[in-house]
Amino acid sequence: MINFDFHKYVNKHIKKEDKVEYLEKAKEIKARFVEGDLSYWNKLDTFVSKDELYKIIETSKYIKENCDIFVVIGIGGSYMGAKAVIEALSPMFNRKSPEIIFLGNNLCAEEYSEIFDYIKEREVIVNVISKSGTTLEPSVAYHLIMKIMKDKYSEEDLKKRVIMTTDREKGDLRKEANEKGNTTFTVPDNVGGRFSVLSPVGLLPIAVAGINIVKLLNGATESFSRVDRALEYAIIRDILYHKNKYIESFTVYNPKLYYFTEWLKQLFGETQGKNGKGIYPTSCVNTRDLHSLGQFLQDGKDLIFETVIGIDKDKTIRLDEYDIELNSLNRIALDMVATAHNNGHTPSGIITIDEKTEETMGELIHFFVLAAIMGALLLEENPFDQPGVEDYKKLIQEELK
Ligand code: PA5
Repeated sequence: MINFDFHKYVNKHIKKEDKVEYLEKAKEIKARFVEGDLSYWNKLDTFVSKDELYKIIETSKYIKENCDIFVVIGIGGSYMGAKAVIEALSPMFNRKSPEIIFLGNNLCAEEYSEIFDYIKEREVIVNVISKSGTTLEPSVAYHLIMKIMKDKYSEEDLKKRVIMTTDREKGDLRKEANEKGNTTFTVPDNVGGRFSVLSPVGLLPIAVAGINIVKLLNGATESFSRVDRALEYAIIRDILYHKNKYIESFTVYNPKLYYFTEWLKQLFGETQGKNGKGIYPTSCVNTRDLHSLGQFLQDGKDLIFETVIGIDKDKTIRLDEYDIELNSLNRIALDMVATAHNNGHTPSGIITIDEKTEETMGELIHFFVLAAIMGALLLEENPFDQPGVEDYKKLIQEELK
């Protein structure tokens, strides 16, 4: 379960009157999520149907039995959620087979060549994920890896070894899958990339990593009835934004949540950064970053607020010399740093999960998805587009012509 104590910590920076202004807006937004046009965000079917869930579980078994390396091609929302959950819930070493490699999230030839050298003598299954089916980086990765796959496997084998997750109808990938008969999964129509981790986009790679996706989805449903909680967080963020806090640091004290903060940066950056508005999301992995960015958060330009994600019951080791559990020491650091920031000019709110499990990760994901959408609505922006991403794409296309 998530414990949301945010207001308790940031009260020094937010007055009761600040919240009064939001009463009407909050009512409107809540109504849209509870019974209005946005209520689909609180339904499991929006993300994955029962049939597709069954197919994901069956396909993940096939993948685990038939390859050493599972290559997941995708960029932005088409890979970050899966990476975040896998890193959060997997051991550091000796992970279960197959090894999962994420490809197509850059254009760096050095990385591509090293990955291709590494996989060429091994059994490989590829999952290419692109809602549009036209994004440059995954298209390049797909084109390059198919040369290797075609050398290794027959056309018949490739139908099962190259799995496509894409739009129901549109795009080159869907067209190709229809022609060749590959295994496919559908990115739901009204769930954009950055919101799609609980759909086949995230669920297949997560299941291949040996993580229980049914528990992950059960955790998410915990958040369905708690629209108020996400709305409260969205409002606090908006109040702080209007007090010139233009940067939010997502701060964690377990390095395994590093990619979760990367996912959060993408989720909030693309959902809210529009038309000269929005909070710039950044992240800290503490206590490491207390020795780098910590100085700025405590003492630098007054621009930042912090959302800390803590874990109540994490693994621990006894520290005899200090007569304390290492986990308790980590928690003391978290509480004291948040207190020091709140005493200064950096509001620091804490969200805690009981334990780092499939259920709590699912709940956190859905909580932040709701909060990001609500935040964009408070800014009177469309949460679901990302027009700013198009500008550089156009320039690249022109240059390529
Ligand atoms: O959140 C988003 O919509 C984006 O980050 C997309 O996921 C990203 O641009 C990749 O798009 P596509 O899945 O169409 O290749």
